[in-house]
Amino acid sequence: MISIEKLENIKNKKILLRLDLNVPLKNTVITDTNRIDKIIPTLNFLLKKKAKIIIISHVGRPDGKIIKELSLEPISLCLKEKIKKNVKLIKDNIFDLNEKKIFCNPSDEVVLLENIRFYPEEEANDEKFSEKLASLGEIYVNDAFSCSHRDHASISKITKYIPSYGGIQIYSEVNALNKITKEIKKPVTCIIGGSKISSKINIIKNLIPIFNNIIIVGAMANNILKYKGFKIGNSIYEKNLNFIIDDIFSFAKNNNCKISFPIDVRVGKELNGNSTEKEILEIENDDMILDVGSKSLNNIKKIIDDSSTILWNGPLGYFENKNFLHGSSEVAKYITKRGDKIFSVVGGGDTVAVINLLNIKNKFNFVSTAGGAFLEYLEGKVLPGIKALN
Ligand code: 3PG
Repeated sequence: MISIEKLENIKNKKILLRLDLNVPLKNTVITDTNRIDKIIPTLNFLLKKKAKIIIISHVGRPDGKIIKELSLEPISLCLKEKIKKNVKLIKDNIFDLNEKKIFCNPSDEVVLLENIRFYPEEEANDEKFSEKLASLGEIYVNDAFSCSHRDHASISKITKYIPSYGGIQIYSEVNALNKITKEIKKPVTCIIGGSKISSKINIIKNLIPIFNNIIIVGAMANNILKYKGFKIGNSIYEKNLNFIIDDIFSFAKNNNCKISFPIDVRVGKELNGNSTEKEILEIENDDMILDVGSKSLNNIKKIIDDSSTILWNGPLGYFENKNFLHGSSEVAKYITKRGDKIFSVVGGGDTVAVINLLNIKNKFNFVSTAGGAFLEYLEGKVLPGIKALN
């Protein structure tokens, strides 16, 4: 992987810059700008070198369709404010674009292509689409470590058609994670939560040999509770995962890794509703599990007390509603209270949003913007986006 910082003369060169601007949006308002803040040094570096920047990003999972609420419009406005430059959002279909159309105004320095996942070709890692994308610039830079586990056109196949480099942020993430994995102190505990169930549950098995404890929380834990025969009411879960969970438990047993999951919960009747603490056996048909309960929190705190390293990816509950922020907030504060006694690493857009909300981001040893990519890197997998740059 060659760094963009090694490039000598990029004045007026058209740089296709893949970023991960997948920030949380509530009714099209950005609720956490961490991922945007992190890439400002890359933009400033390229602007100082007088390059022309074409930003590519996605937000959410529009599944190859145009979804108005997932437009990058609010993100272009936020970027404009942060870099104090106009950031033109280009909504034209990529297949109708060419270099001249993109920079039709000579004073344009930064443009942003509309949500790349509006095109089904992106996730299909389509050849023609990658070639077309590449034709819009002269140099490609991947500064989206948090998307580099995706074998998508703007992450991997594009590098086949254009000289490609790593950005400033991707270097700092890879270097930090390399250091962490080499110097990791046992006992190691991984807290995995969040709502992206299917993409993470498969990863857990591969993490078992590395960790002493895996604490499964968030929506993923609903699958475990259902597997164990408990009623989960109206909570989200994914079908047909029982055989994976079976595998996880027996593999964990053979590897001396303890798997923990909630033994009590906080439920609501709707996402924006109030929270009621319940024992697992008290869950009613119209209840949604949206956070962990007090007994579960005590168990988690005991495990944290006995750990030297904590890796945390994914909130414990539906933190977007502050009635269900309790579990994540308690765990976050408890980890930071242990100070030097623990090495703490946090990853993932939502988890970082939680610690930002609590204003304690600086109290963790390392904060990665990546969620799924962070876990897959820890698994020891070669990420397609990194492989493509190599
Ligand atoms: C993330 O939020 O982890 C990245 O933006 C990747 O998003 P994805 O899980 O929807 O591919």
